[in-house]
Amino acid sequence: MRKECRTTSIVNWKGGVGKTTIAYHLGTGLEMLEPEFREEHLGSAEAPRVLLVDNDAQCNLSIACLGAGEFEKMLARGSKTVADLYAAFLSGDSPAAKVQEYILRGAVRRDAARKFEKVDLLPGHPDLVFTDLNFTVYSRPDFKESMSGPPMYKFRVLDRILSQVRGEYDFIFIDCPPSMHFVTQNAVYASDFYLIPALPDWFSAYGLHSIVAKVQEFNRMWELAENGCYRATELAGIIMNQVVERKKRPISSQAAIYEGLKERYQDSVFYTYLTAGDAIPRALHEARPVYSLARSGGTAAKQARLLRRILVEFLARISE
Ligand SMILES: Nc1ncnc2c1ncn2[C@@H]1O[C@H](COP(=O)(O)OP(=O)(O)OP(=O)(O)O)[C@@H](O)[C@H]1O
Ligand SMILES: [Mg+2]
Repeated sequence: MRKECRTTSIVNWKGGVGKTTIAYHLGTGLEMLEPEFREEHLGSAEAPRVLLVDNDAQCNLSIACLGAGEFEKMLARGSKTVADLYAAFLSGDSPAAKVQEYILRGAVRRDAARKFEKVDLLPGHPDLVFTDLNFTVYSRPDFKESMSGPPMYKFRVLDRILSQVRGEYDFIFIDCPPSMHFVTQNAVYASDFYLIPALPDWFSAYGLHSIVAKVQEFNRMWELAENGCYRATELAGIIMNQVVERKKRPISSQAAIYEGLKERYQDSVFYTYLTAGDAIPRALHEARPVYSLARSGGTAAKQARLLRRILVEFLARISE
Protein backbone atom coordinates (compact mmCIF):
# COMPACT_ATOMS: atom_id res chain seq x y z
CA MET A 1 0.00 0.00 0.00
CA ARG A 2 1.26 3.48 -0.88
CA LYS A 3 2.20 5.84 1.92
CA GLU A 4 1.26 9.51 2.02
CA CYS A 5 3.16 12.04 -0.07
CA ARG A 6 6.76 12.61 0.97
CA THR A 7 8.26 16.03 0.34
CA THR A 8 12.01 16.59 0.10
CA SER A 9 13.98 19.81 -0.29
CA ILE A 10 17.41 19.79 -1.87
CA VAL A 11 19.43 22.52 -0.16
CA ASN A 12 22.89 23.99 0.08
CA TRP A 13 23.72 27.66 0.29
CA LYS A 14 26.80 26.92 -1.79
CA GLY A 15 26.16 27.16 -5.53
CA GLY A 16 26.96 24.60 -8.21
CA VAL A 17 27.11 21.56 -5.91
CA GLY A 18 24.45 19.50 -7.74
CA LYS A 19 21.13 20.47 -6.11
CA THR A 20 19.30 20.70 -9.42
CA THR A 21 21.02 17.62 -10.83
CA ILE A 22 20.01 15.53 -7.81
CA ALA A 23 16.42 16.87 -7.60
CA TYR A 24 15.90 16.21 -11.31
CA HIS A 25 17.36 12.70 -11.30
CA LEU A 26 15.58 11.59 -8.12
CA GLY A 27 12.24 12.76 -9.50
CA THR A 28 12.62 11.36 -13.01
CA GLY A 29 14.44 8.22 -11.77
CA LEU A 30 11.31 7.02 -9.97
CA GLU A 31 9.52 6.53 -13.30
CA MET A 32 12.55 4.67 -14.67
CA LEU A 33 12.86 2.09 -11.87
CA GLU A 34 11.89 -1.47 -12.80
CA PRO A 35 8.24 -2.31 -11.92
CA GLU A 36 9.43 -5.31 -9.83
CA PHE A 37 11.61 -3.02 -7.72
CA ARG A 38 8.76 -0.58 -7.24
CA GLU A 39 6.41 -3.38 -6.26
CA GLU A 40 8.84 -4.50 -3.56
CA HIS A 41 10.00 -1.13 -2.25
CA LEU A 42 7.15 1.26 -2.98
CA GLY A 43 4.20 -1.07 -2.62
CA SER A 44 3.04 -0.82 -6.22
CA ALA A 45 4.54 -1.70 -9.60
CA GLU A 46 3.09 1.50 -11.03
CA ALA A 47 5.33 4.53 -11.32
CA PRO A 48 4.72 6.92 -8.40
CA ARG A 49 3.29 10.36 -9.06
CA VAL A 50 6.03 12.98 -8.78
CA LEU A 51 5.96 16.76 -8.58
CA LEU A 52 9.17 18.70 -9.20
CA VAL A 53 9.08 22.22 -7.75
CA ASP A 54 11.50 24.79 -9.16
CA ASN A 55 12.07 27.12 -6.22
CA ASP A 56 15.08 28.91 -7.72
CA ALA A 57 15.16 32.12 -9.77
CA GLN A 58 17.83 30.58 -12.00
CA CYS A 59 15.12 28.15 -13.19
CA ASN A 60 17.65 25.42 -13.99
CA LEU A 61 15.24 22.64 -13.05
CA SER A 62 12.54 24.04 -15.35
CA ILE A 63 15.10 24.35 -18.16
CA ALA A 64 16.28 20.74 -17.64
CA CYS A 65 12.67 19.50 -17.64
CA LEU A 66 11.33 21.49 -20.60
CA GLY A 67 14.40 22.47 -22.60
CA ALA A 68 15.56 26.09 -22.82
CA GLY A 69 13.47 26.85 -25.94
CA GLU A 70 10.22 25.56 -24.45
CA PHE A 71 10.94 27.29 -21.12
CA GLU A 72 11.49 30.64 -22.87
CA LYS A 73 8.27 30.19 -24.84
CA MET A 74 6.51 29.48 -21.57
CA LEU A 75 7.82 32.74 -20.08
CA ALA A 76 6.95 34.66 -23.24
CA ARG A 77 3.36 33.34 -23.05
CA GLY A 78 3.21 34.74 -19.52
CA SER A 79 2.38 31.30 -18.08
CA LYS A 80 1.82 31.04 -14.36
CA THR A 81 4.72 29.92 -12.18
CA VAL A 82 5.55 29.32 -8.55
CA ALA A 83 6.59 33.00 -8.29
CA ASP A 84 2.94 34.03 -8.94
CA LEU A 85 1.79 31.54 -6.30
CA TYR A 86 4.17 33.00 -3.71
CA ALA A 87 2.84 36.47 -4.51
CA ALA A 88 -0.78 35.32 -4.26
CA PHE A 89 -0.40 33.25 -1.10
CA LEU A 90 1.91 35.54 0.89
CA SER A 91 -0.87 38.00 1.61
CA GLY A 92 -3.70 35.67 2.58
CA ASP A 93 -4.65 32.34 4.05
CA SER A 94 -7.02 31.11 1.39
CA PRO A 95 -6.40 32.82 -1.92
CA ALA A 96 -8.52 31.94 -4.92
CA ALA A 97 -5.45 30.73 -6.86
CA LYS A 98 -5.89 27.11 -7.97
CA VAL A 99 -2.47 25.48 -7.68
CA GLN A 100 -3.47 22.71 -10.12
CA GLU A 101 -3.63 25.32 -12.87
CA TYR A 102 0.04 26.27 -12.34
CA ILE A 103 1.36 22.73 -12.76
CA LEU A 104 2.69 21.50 -16.11
CA ARG A 105 1.64 17.89 -16.79
CA GLY A 106 3.09 15.59 -19.43
CA ALA A 107 5.66 18.29 -20.25
CA VAL A 108 8.87 16.89 -18.70
CA ARG A 109 11.12 15.49 -21.44
CA ARG A 110 12.31 11.90 -21.05
CA ASP A 111 14.38 11.87 -24.25
CA ALA A 112 14.24 13.40 -27.72
CA ALA A 113 10.90 11.75 -28.47
CA ARG A 114 9.11 11.02 -25.19
CA LYS A 115 7.80 12.79 -22.11
CA PHE A 116 7.48 11.42 -18.59
CA GLU A 117 3.95 10.30 -17.79
CA LYS A 118 4.00 10.69 -14.01
CA VAL A 119 6.46 13.53 -13.48
CA ASP A 120 4.89 17.00 -13.28
CA LEU A 121 6.57 20.39 -12.91
CA LEU A 122 5.68 23.49 -10.96
CA PRO A 123 7.93 25.82 -12.94
CA GLY A 124 10.15 28.57 -11.60
CA HIS A 125 10.49 32.17 -12.80
CA PRO A 126 13.39 34.67 -12.74
CA ASP A 127 11.10 36.92 -10.65
CA LEU A 128 11.69 34.55 -7.73
CA VAL A 129 14.70 36.77 -7.18
CA PHE A 130 12.24 39.37 -5.82
CA THR A 131 10.28 36.90 -3.73
CA ASP A 132 12.70 36.93 -0.80
CA LEU A 133 12.52 40.73 -0.80
CA ASN A 134 8.71 40.59 -0.78
CA PHE A 135 8.86 38.30 2.23
CA THR A 136 11.11 40.77 4.02
CA VAL A 137 9.11 43.91 3.41
CA TYR A 138 5.61 42.45 3.60
CA SER A 139 3.77 42.56 6.88
CA ARG A 140 0.31 41.06 7.24
CA PRO A 141 -1.95 43.56 9.00
CA ASP A 142 -3.88 40.91 10.95
CA PHE A 143 -0.75 39.16 12.24
CA LYS A 144 -0.89 39.14 16.04
CA GLU A 145 2.01 36.90 17.00
CA SER A 146 4.66 39.37 15.88
CA MET A 147 5.44 40.65 19.36
CA SER A 148 5.76 37.22 20.91
CA GLY A 149 7.25 35.02 18.23
CA PRO A 150 8.39 34.69 14.63
CA PRO A 151 5.98 35.76 11.84
CA MET A 152 4.99 32.16 11.11
CA TYR A 153 2.83 32.98 8.07
CA LYS A 154 6.05 33.89 6.26
CA PHE A 155 7.39 30.33 6.59
CA ARG A 156 4.15 28.55 5.73
CA VAL A 157 3.53 29.98 2.26
CA LEU A 158 4.96 27.14 0.14
CA ASP A 159 3.44 24.57 2.52
CA ARG A 160 0.02 26.16 1.98
CA ILE A 161 0.58 26.12 -1.79
CA LEU A 162 1.60 22.44 -1.82
CA SER A 163 -1.13 21.37 0.56
CA GLN A 164 -3.64 21.97 -2.27
CA VAL A 165 -1.99 19.25 -4.39
CA ARG A 166 -0.26 16.86 -1.94
CA GLY A 167 -3.05 14.32 -2.33
CA GLU A 168 -2.19 13.98 -6.03
CA TYR A 169 1.47 13.00 -5.49
CA ASP A 170 3.59 10.31 -3.87
CA PHE A 171 6.79 12.37 -3.96
CA ILE A 172 7.52 16.08 -4.17
CA PHE A 173 11.07 17.34 -4.71
CA ILE A 174 11.85 21.03 -4.20
CA ASP A 175 14.98 22.38 -5.88
CA CYS A 176 16.27 25.32 -3.81
CA PRO A 177 18.45 28.32 -4.68
CA PRO A 178 22.00 28.61 -3.32
CA SER A 179 20.84 30.49 -0.21
CA MET A 180 19.04 29.85 3.08
CA HIS A 181 16.69 32.85 2.83
CA PHE A 182 12.89 32.87 2.88
CA VAL A 183 12.15 30.72 -0.18
CA THR A 184 14.52 28.01 1.07
CA GLN A 185 13.11 28.30 4.60
CA ASN A 186 9.63 27.89 3.08
CA ALA A 187 10.83 24.76 1.26
CA VAL A 188 12.30 23.29 4.46
CA TYR A 189 9.12 24.08 6.39
CA ALA A 190 7.02 22.37 3.69
CA SER A 191 9.26 19.27 3.63
CA ASP A 192 9.48 16.01 5.55
CA PHE A 193 13.13 15.61 4.57
CA TYR A 194 16.06 17.61 3.23
CA LEU A 195 19.06 16.46 1.25
CA ILE A 196 22.41 18.22 0.98
CA PRO A 197 24.55 17.66 -2.10
CA ALA A 198 28.18 18.71 -1.50
CA LEU A 199 31.45 18.77 -3.37
CA PRO A 200 34.47 16.88 -2.05
CA ASP A 201 36.44 20.04 -1.32
CA TRP A 202 37.39 21.60 1.97
CA PHE A 203 35.17 24.71 1.88
CA SER A 204 32.14 22.66 0.82
CA ALA A 205 32.72 20.11 3.60
CA TYR A 206 33.33 22.84 6.18
CA GLY A 207 30.05 24.62 5.30
CA LEU A 208 27.89 21.55 5.90
CA HIS A 209 27.93 22.00 9.63
CA SER A 210 26.34 25.45 9.36
CA ILE A 211 23.58 24.19 7.05
CA VAL A 212 22.62 21.35 9.41
CA ALA A 213 22.80 23.75 12.39
CA LYS A 214 20.57 26.29 10.61
CA VAL A 215 17.92 23.70 9.76
CA GLN A 216 17.98 22.51 13.39
CA GLU A 217 17.51 26.13 14.43
CA PHE A 218 14.53 26.52 12.06
CA ASN A 219 13.02 23.28 13.35
CA ARG A 220 13.35 24.43 16.97
CA MET A 221 11.90 27.85 16.21
CA TRP A 222 8.90 26.34 14.37
CA GLU A 223 8.31 23.63 16.98
CA LEU A 224 8.23 26.27 19.68
CA ALA A 225 6.00 28.62 17.69
CA GLU A 226 3.53 25.84 16.88
CA ASN A 227 3.45 24.26 20.33
CA GLY A 228 4.66 20.84 19.21
CA CYS A 229 2.33 20.63 16.17
CA TYR A 230 5.19 21.09 13.72
CA ARG A 231 7.07 17.94 12.69
CA ALA A 232 10.80 18.59 12.31
CA THR A 233 12.28 18.29 8.83
CA GLU A 234 14.77 15.42 8.91
CA LEU A 235 18.13 15.20 7.21
CA ALA A 236 17.79 12.41 4.62
CA GLY A 237 21.50 12.63 3.97
CA ILE A 238 24.53 14.29 2.46
CA ILE A 239 25.42 13.30 -1.10
CA MET A 240 28.97 13.77 -2.36
CA ASN A 241 29.01 14.92 -5.97
CA GLN A 242 31.67 15.45 -8.63
CA VAL A 243 34.00 12.89 -7.07
CA VAL A 244 37.10 12.19 -9.14
CA GLU A 245 38.19 8.56 -9.08
CA ARG A 246 41.47 6.80 -9.68
CA LYS A 247 41.40 2.99 -9.71
CA LYS A 248 37.71 3.06 -8.71
CA ARG A 249 38.45 5.04 -5.52
CA PRO A 250 38.20 8.79 -4.88
CA ILE A 251 41.57 10.50 -5.39
CA SER A 252 43.41 10.81 -2.10
CA SER A 253 42.58 14.45 -1.27
CA GLN A 254 38.85 13.75 -1.84
CA ALA A 255 38.99 10.40 -0.04
CA ALA A 256 40.31 12.23 3.05
CA ILE A 257 37.40 14.70 2.94
CA TYR A 258 34.88 11.90 2.36
CA GLU A 259 36.25 9.88 5.30
CA GLY A 260 36.25 13.01 7.49
CA LEU A 261 32.58 13.61 6.66
CA LYS A 262 31.66 10.01 7.45
CA GLU A 263 33.39 10.36 10.80
CA ARG A 264 31.56 13.57 11.61
CA TYR A 265 28.12 12.86 10.13
CA GLN A 266 28.29 9.04 10.29
CA ASP A 267 25.31 7.37 8.60
CA SER A 268 24.02 10.69 7.31
CA VAL A 269 26.56 10.51 4.50
CA PHE A 270 25.26 8.53 1.51
CA TYR A 271 27.26 5.37 0.86
CA THR A 272 26.98 6.07 -2.85
CA TYR A 273 28.71 9.13 -4.27
CA LEU A 274 28.32 10.61 -7.73
CA THR A 275 31.42 10.79 -9.89
CA ALA A 276 32.45 13.76 -12.02
CA GLY A 277 31.97 13.27 -15.73
CA ASP A 278 30.70 15.06 -18.80
CA ALA A 279 27.59 12.90 -19.37
CA ILE A 280 25.50 14.83 -16.81
CA PRO A 281 26.17 18.30 -18.27
CA ARG A 282 25.62 16.84 -21.75
CA ALA A 283 22.29 15.30 -20.74
CA LEU A 284 21.15 18.51 -18.99
CA HIS A 285 22.05 20.53 -22.08
CA GLU A 286 19.87 18.17 -24.14
CA ALA A 287 17.07 18.47 -21.51
CA ARG A 288 16.97 14.78 -20.67
CA PRO A 289 18.15 12.80 -17.65
CA VAL A 290 21.45 10.98 -17.95
CA TYR A 291 19.50 7.69 -17.57
CA SER A 292 18.33 8.17 -21.14
CA LEU A 293 21.94 8.26 -22.40
CA ALA A 294 23.00 5.17 -20.41
CA ARG A 295 22.81 2.83 -23.41
CA SER A 296 25.76 4.65 -24.98
CA GLY A 297 27.89 3.17 -22.17
CA GLY A 298 30.96 4.90 -20.71
CA THR A 299 30.49 7.86 -18.38
CA ALA A 300 26.74 8.09 -19.06
CA ALA A 301 26.17 4.47 -18.03
CA LYS A 302 28.27 4.94 -14.91
CA GLN A 303 26.60 8.19 -13.79
CA ALA A 304 23.15 6.73 -14.53
CA ARG A 305 24.00 3.65 -12.44
CA LEU A 306 25.22 5.79 -9.54
CA LEU A 307 22.18 8.06 -9.65
CA ARG A 308 19.90 5.03 -9.60
CA ARG A 309 21.81 3.74 -6.55
CA ILE A 310 21.47 7.15 -4.88
CA LEU A 311 17.70 7.00 -5.54
CA VAL A 312 17.45 3.49 -4.04
CA GLU A 313 19.49 4.61 -1.02
CA PHE A 314 17.29 7.69 -0.64
CA LEU A 315 14.14 5.52 -0.63
CA ALA A 316 15.64 3.25 2.02
CA ARG A 317 16.70 6.23 4.16
CA ILE A 318 13.31 7.93 4.15
CA SER A 319 11.49 4.73 5.03
CA GLU A 320 13.70 3.89 8.04
N1 LIG B 1 28.60 14.62 -11.26
C1 LIG B 1 28.76 15.64 -12.12
N2 LIG B 1 29.73 15.60 -13.07
C2 LIG B 1 29.90 16.63 -13.92
N3 LIG B 1 29.15 17.73 -13.94
C3 LIG B 1 28.19 17.82 -13.02
C4 LIG B 1 27.92 16.80 -12.06
N4 LIG B 1 26.89 17.19 -11.28
C5 LIG B 1 26.53 18.40 -11.71
N5 LIG B 1 27.28 18.79 -12.75
C6 LIG B 1 27.25 20.05 -13.49
O1 LIG B 1 27.65 21.07 -12.58
C7 LIG B 1 26.86 22.23 -12.75
C8 LIG B 1 26.19 22.56 -11.42
O2 LIG B 1 25.24 21.54 -11.12
P1 LIG B 1 23.80 21.94 -10.58
O3 LIG B 1 23.22 22.99 -11.46
O4 LIG B 1 23.04 20.70 -10.39
O5 LIG B 1 24.22 22.57 -9.19
P2 LIG B 1 23.31 23.48 -8.21
O6 LIG B 1 23.77 23.21 -6.83
O7 LIG B 1 21.89 23.26 -8.51
O8 LIG B 1 23.73 24.93 -8.65
P3 LIG B 1 23.02 26.32 -8.18
O9 LIG B 1 23.45 26.54 -6.77
O10 LIG B 1 23.56 27.33 -9.12
O11 LIG B 1 21.55 26.10 -8.31
C9 LIG B 1 25.89 21.94 -13.88
O12 LIG B 1 26.42 22.47 -15.06
C10 LIG B 1 25.85 20.43 -13.96
O13 LIG B 1 25.64 19.98 -15.26
MG1 LIG C 1 20.40 24.64 -9.05
